[in-house]
Amino acid sequence: MTATQLEFAQYPSANPTKEADRAAILANPGFGNHFTDHTVVVDFTVDAQGEGGWGNARLEAYGPISMDPAAAVLHYGQEIFEGMKAYRHADGSIWTFRPEANAARLNRSAARLALPQLPEEVFLESLRQLVGADREWVPSRDGESLYLRPFMIATEAFLGVRPAREVSYRVIASPAANYFGGELAPVSIWVSRNYARAGRGGTGAAKCGGNYAASLAAQLEAEAHNCKQVLFLDQFNNNAVEELGGMNVFFVFRDGTLVTPALSGTILEGITRSSIIQLARDRGLDVQERVITLDEWRDGVGSGDITEVFACGTAAVITPIGELKDGDEVISAPDPSAGEVTMSLREQLLGIQTGKVEDPHGWMTRLV
Ligand SMILES: Cc1ncc(COP(=O)(O)O)c(C=O)c1O
Repeated sequence: MTATQLEFAQYPSANPTKEADRAAILANPGFGNHFTDHTVVVDFTVDAQGEGGWGNARLEAYGPISMDPAAAVLHYGQEIFEGMKAYRHADGSIWTFRPEANAARLNRSAARLALPQLPEEVFLESLRQLVGADREWVPSRDGESLYLRPFMIATEAFLGVRPAREVSYRVIASPAANYFGGELAPVSIWVSRNYARAGRGGTGAAKCGGNYAASLAAQLEAEAHNCKQVLFLDQFNNNAVEELGGMNVFFVFRDGTLVTPALSGTILEGITRSSIIQLARDRGLDVQERVITLDEWRDGVGSGDITEVFACGTAAVITPIGELKDGDEVISAPDPSAGEVTMSLREQLLGIQTGKVEDPHGWMTRLV
């Protein structure tokens, strides 16, 4: 058995959720509130010769993790994660979207957090294992999916500050409806002036827990101002738009051009973002990855040059941005009756993911 192909031992739950209870959850899943019956675990250890490797791959019942209180993740936050979805198609088969891209991003995050590389095949098999065991949990209604959360944590009990030699990779799953709840509606955004999300040389491009912990104070400010998400600006106070707390941002201009902030090392490289760039270019649209400032946003909306602004990410897919609050100033959303490009890209992307429209780039992978 090579390191890239592991046999997953099977320890199915002795006490799975009763069908009626699962049906009640699936009737109103919300987002991130309920978890399926199983989890997948793969452990990384370093042997006496200093050689590291993945092993002890298993499917087991979902439940609390037993861990030494000195485990490195609890002290130094050596942790990374991914977020993706499994979709039930009309024929009952279950698919996921661009999992190789998530595997690659997990490994880029791992490199930044000094965690071990996980072979792509182990990543893909972990998804097949979990979704195979918990297939009944994959919702079938429009707009719903099974959210998959792969993550990697440093479990070694050791208080020195160095990369842990014991690491655990896991996947959990949660049935999901619309991230913002209810019907699709524009989200209101709060401009964070007191906090930055990332700085040059930092971890902004990695999907690590610490980035999200650091965003919470800004998120609280947003909520205090009746906004749903935070917009982070660049670290140099040049008013360059970076991204939202959990989503990338796009602007649609009157001439059809799409603009999104360039990847600068401080922005998470969204898989939805890169898919939108591709789909827009397929349509012959000009897509620019460049600096775009708050001033350009304000002036563009004022002059009518910017006709649509939207946020995108796995959880919320593509969601129009409503008004933007910057202290006492409000930059209104472009004409709410617009939104054609936003909605048609959303429809195409969701259509590909749910198997209703052609998948021209072979982005979908069947899991079950
Ligand atoms: C900070 C941040 N930016 C962007 C995204 C969008 O990434 P993706 O499209 O891969 O979900 C996410 C979500 O994962 C995120 O947490």
